Amino acid sequence: DVGGEETYRVDCSPEGLNPIKCADRGCVMGAASLPGVPRCYFPPDRGYQAVGAPQDLPNGLLFSLKRVGGNAMFGGEVDPLAFLVEYQSDSRIHFKFYDPNDNRFEVPLDIGTPAKPLNKALYNFTWTNDPTFTFNITRTDTGATLFDTSMGGLVMEDQFLQIATKLPSAKVYGFGEHEHKSYQHDMSYQTWGMYSRDQPPAYKGNLYGVHPFYMNVEDDDNAHGVLILNSAAQDVTLTPAPALIYRTIGGVLDLYMFLGPTPENVVQQYTEAIGRPFMPPYWSLGFQLSRYGYNSLATVSDTIDRIRAYDIPHDVQFGDIDYMDEQMDFTYDPVTYAGYPDYIRRLRNDHGMHFVTILDPCITTERSNYRPYDLGQQMGIWINESDGRTPALGKVWPPGASVFPDYTSPYCHDYWITLCKEFFSVLPYDGLWIDMNEPANFGTGSIVGCDQNNINQPPFLPKIWGDLADKTLCPDFKTYIGNMYDTHSLFGWAQSPPTFQAVQEASGKRAFVVSRSTFPGSGKYAAHWLGDNYSQWSNLKNSIVGMLEFSLFGIPYSGADICGFNGDANYEQCNRWMQLGAFYPFARNHNGLGYREQDPGAWDAEFARISREVLLVRYTLNPYLYLLFHQAHTEGSTVVRPLLHEFVNDKETHTIDRQFLWGPALLFSPVLDEGMTSVDAYFPKARWYDYYTGAEISPSQQMTYVTLNAPSDYIPIHVRGGYVIPTQEPARTTTVSRTLPMGLIIALGDAQSHMARGTLFWDDGDSIDTYANGNYFQMEFVADENGLQTLVHSDGYRGIDSLTFGTIRVFGLSSVSSIMINGFPHSSFTFDPTTKELQITSINVGVKDLQSIAWA
Ligand code: NOJ
Repeated sequence: DVGGEETYRVDCSPEGLNPIKCADRGCVMGAASLPGVPRCYFPPDRGYQAVGAPQDLPNGLLFSLKRVGGNAMFGGEVDPLAFLVEYQSDSRIHFKFYDPNDNRFEVPLDIGTPAKPLNKALYNFTWTNDPTFTFNITRTDTGATLFDTSMGGLVMEDQFLQIATKLPSAKVYGFGEHEHKSYQHDMSYQTWGMYSRDQPPAYKGNLYGVHPFYMNVEDDDNAHGVLILNSAAQDVTLTPAPALIYRTIGGVLDLYMFLGPTPENVVQQYTEAIGRPFMPPYWSLGFQLSRYGYNSLATVSDTIDRIRAYDIPHDVQFGDIDYMDEQMDFTYDPVTYAGYPDYIRRLRNDHGMHFVTILDPCITTERSNYRPYDLGQQMGIWINESDGRTPALGKVWPPGASVFPDYTSPYCHDYWITLCKEFFSVLPYDGLWIDMNEPANFGTGSIVGCDQNNINQPPFLPKIWGDLADKTLCPDFKTYIGNMYDTHSLFGWAQSPPTFQAVQEASGKRAFVVSRSTFPGSGKYAAHWLGDNYSQWSNLKNSIVGMLEFSLFGIPYSGADICGFNGDANYEQCNRWMQLGAFYPFARNHNGLGYREQDPGAWDAEFARISREVLLVRYTLNPYLYLLFHQAHTEGSTVVRPLLHEFVNDKETHTIDRQFLWGPALLFSPVLDEGMTSVDAYFPKARWYDYYTGAEISPSQQMTYVTLNAPSDYIPIHVRGGYVIPTQEPARTTTVSRTLPMGLIIALGDAQSHMARGTLFWDDGDSIDTYANGNYFQMEFVADENGLQTLVHSDGYRGIDSLTFGTIRVFGLSSVSSIMINGFPHSSFTFDPTTKELQITSINVGVKDLQSIAWA
């Protein structure tokens, strides 16, 4: 109890203080001594009470509750109220308040069945009826109370639903999508609105996606996560108690708790429920370039040429709306982009590059013989006005008024997939970038506005920017599965699966879809970029927080626009951003309309050299990144990972968000501030080696901040002892690098055993479901002070047969005088007595033929 009794108060007059209403609602008034503390608040005897004993279910309980104390807040009280508790697995408990007499809207997310049935639950559910119905969820083995509704404030009305819980600690992470300034939340009465919105990152703004998911790290460093599965406009208030108050204006109160106990377990359990992340194609691990406003194919081609002239890695080129004919989907400008399809074919065939193009969910009604409109009309797949018949009209990029495909409808999937496939035969893309899918509308509601009613103007509005129709469609407009009131924030989420399917079917290859708006479950189909950020230093720093949060949300493939979207980039900042962005999963430099050129070829030779070299490091490490994505896809682990996920017992890591890991083994400590040529980097207790030199961080530098040199051409990277990292010789594209010799970085572990382990996962990089179909190669590595042993685990990919090992680096040995490979002496090696790096070169043994290396 940090903040005292007052901080447990739940606001009973959230729409503005009114003592008469307060009393009518059965609430009480009191003085408030801290800013943020509500004056009118719920007393313990206002809420619901269980009627009789709960019904026993095979794995749970079902309660019937009745309302007690005071009158309604806004009307439409759900009474009786059903409360269901389901013990879904040892680590997952589901609890839900719903109306037993009415089918209120529920998010149609298919929550996966747990792999393991209930055996010995990590949690214990208890309840009381005194003075009202409240419940606790405790962690069985520590007794920690993870969820505790005894602070009251339970409300379930038609357009106002609320649940409040005390938290076991103030260490809360998650909720989105926002621009959070730190990964760990500020608990001083901060309220965060959630409602998808075409909103560039701005403090306290509700941004593109909605993620009502948080993780809490308990005092003894166990972690749990909670999903509040609701898609209506909503907000959450974090109080110093510590406590959390959640409010929404529709649907039901549907919660899932994941018991961890480690932060990684929480994400694994969460993605088991909402869907594991998609497996990205290998080429998408390469550097990507985009801008809004090349305005001609000539400019695109000049830009690509200068990057090539500098020999800077470049795998993927994007097309933004300026390639379109009048900004209309499924067209390209016949004049300014004449010859575009052939150009893209040459990029692919002659240069091994890939192409991703943008699509917006707004289809103009103003052009005759425009098939995307005509077909949609014929199929009746638009979002309609409240009458359910008249297509809703908004204004977005293309000329005149636009209609919006309703992706919640299965017929719309057919429509969209048909068009995407037809377009593929015009413009052969490798991936699709779905933008503006909040859905964005430049006006309010529609070109004719919105009706006045309770849906469009609800009695209570959560802390979101603007009203419900602001920059989007009217809440009372109809989609296939319900009113926009409930489905608005599901738009991008619903668009992702058919887009994913369209790319797969059109290309016959693994899909790559990048979506601006996301919701829990999006990660199964889509990557995400952090939207229209600014070319400002603060945005560099915040991009790390954003990535860490999307890791938590089960969308590991993320990144921010490198060098910033809005505003002119500047040299120093863009250079630092190329260094940081080289280690975003989504390493894309993207620029807004009219700003100065910021691609890595646009500055000078020195800039180009620095970008090239840092991208070559990225490409060297791509086999490890690919493994991490494979593990995310199959086990739900994170890729970009905060230190706290690996060192949760080191409390210092709980707030670190200026450094991040790839998986467990690589630590990045970027420069994030103007004028700096050093970084204060934290090293938890482990062996750490400098990636570039192999030199070890001394034990006295562990568990403390170390000032590292970071001149303008340098980003500090460290390898954690105990891990074997697969690498490959880099090249200008992944298409080429994938044919070059592979390598390993063997970072020996702790002083006793020196043991290090690792895995190589390899397949053709772009076929669909290679893992499920067994078309992959997997090899395990175990090393210690004497040498390396390997084990081929799966040999289902013939492409491995032509790959060899080139160089293997070993960190952490004290001396080496001879090397044996597969039992034969090998003379090509160097050992640096200062840094203690062993480099075994010219290995030239087939990857799968490498059985052992001995060093002595
Ligand atoms: C908004 C997107 O966020 C941005 O990345 C894109 O360049 C513009 N729309 C134009 O398509």
